[in-house]
Amino acid sequence: MVESFNFSKLPLIQFGPGKADLLPRIISGHGRNVLLVTGSSSFLASTRGQIILTTLEKEGLKVTHVSVQGEPSPGIVDSVVSQHRHKLPDVVIAIGGGSAIDAGKSISAMITVEGNLKDYLEGVGFRGHPGTKIPFIAVPTTAGTGSETTKNAVISEVGENGFKKSLRHENFVPDIAIVDPLLTVSCPPDITAASGMDCFTQLTEAYLSDKANRYTDSLALEGIKVVIMCMLRAYENGSDVEARTGMSFAALTSGICLTNAGLGVVHGFASSVGARWAVPHGIVCGTLMAEANAVNVRMLRKTGNNYEACKKYATLGKLVVEESNKSEEYYIDAFIDYLRQLTLKLGIPRLGRFGITINDIDEICAGTDIKNNPVKLSDEELKEILASRI
Ligand SMILES: [Fe+2]
Repeated sequence: MVESFNFSKLPLIQFGPGKADLLPRIISGHGRNVLLVTGSSSFLASTRGQIILTTLEKEGLKVTHVSVQGEPSPGIVDSVVSQHRHKLPDVVIAIGGGSAIDAGKSISAMITVEGNLKDYLEGVGFRGHPGTKIPFIAVPTTAGTGSETTKNAVISEVGENGFKKSLRHENFVPDIAIVDPLLTVSCPPDITAASGMDCFTQLTEAYLSDKANRYTDSLALEGIKVVIMCMLRAYENGSDVEARTGMSFAALTSGICLTNAGLGVVHGFASSVGARWAVPHGIVCGTLMAEANAVNVRMLRKTGNNYEACKKYATLGKLVVEESNKSEEYYIDAFIDYLRQLTLKLGIPRLGRFGITINDIDEICAGTDIKNNPVKLSDEELKEILASRI
């Protein structure tokens, strides 16, 4: 039986090793004035980055470069936008990790409207964005957030009254995503691990989501299969292009899945923790993933009211063990065990490393909004998940 569903639009996707070579031609199709957004540990300083920049200049493109440090804040985006509103670029291109892409995405959207970014942020401002923007091209250099295919940009203000909220509109899906796994080869192991766990969490949460549909399920399962094959390989040997290509595919797919199926408890925590402490998003996801799923499974078994989700957990377990003809319960436990082992092998740190203590648990749980988890979790269960990874 196929149930009704909605599916958001996708960028024009150019996927595969060497696809970044298409950049000059693709950009030229939009005009000569290019606003290039990168992260602070600039990809442009790398040999590959220098080659790309030189090629763009050779094409006669006028490139203005903006570097954004860390996750974009309203202040940073507003400041870039105010410098460029008087002379609009023809195209905005972001080359970098998820933060750089979210920065580029929000700049391309904010540059066409009046007011400050906070005015349009979900849960913060009260203005509806009309969805206007400058054409936007996303070029990821990590395999993680999948921001190259999502319709939201995550904006953070970290601190006592901090927040992590989205600027969102159907039109904010990048116009073009150039996903070249060769750009991720120089990504160091710790970032490969954290961003890979973000991608794995997104695929798993979208697959188990109460908003999942047949389309997102088939995509999420393919992404998860590839993560299981490639994640450790990419972590242990960054030059393994086949593994890097797999992870880039999984990240791209995770963005499509989360846009259309939503996310669960781990991403609820990622917002509340990330708003208050400067913990990289992928680490929050990676460190909580195994224990959050263990609690999900326990509550699913206890309540017994979502057999579909239990079946899905068993399907995931079948992907990580060779044994056949075992019980559903066996495969469910095997998946949780796999997650715990993976967290160890990838050396994902605990939250305590970032200054979070047991005394912070109540505050974090009070600010955690869980949207599409397969089972309802009480405050007590949320606290248990956090406490296990402090
Ligand atoms: Fe994420």
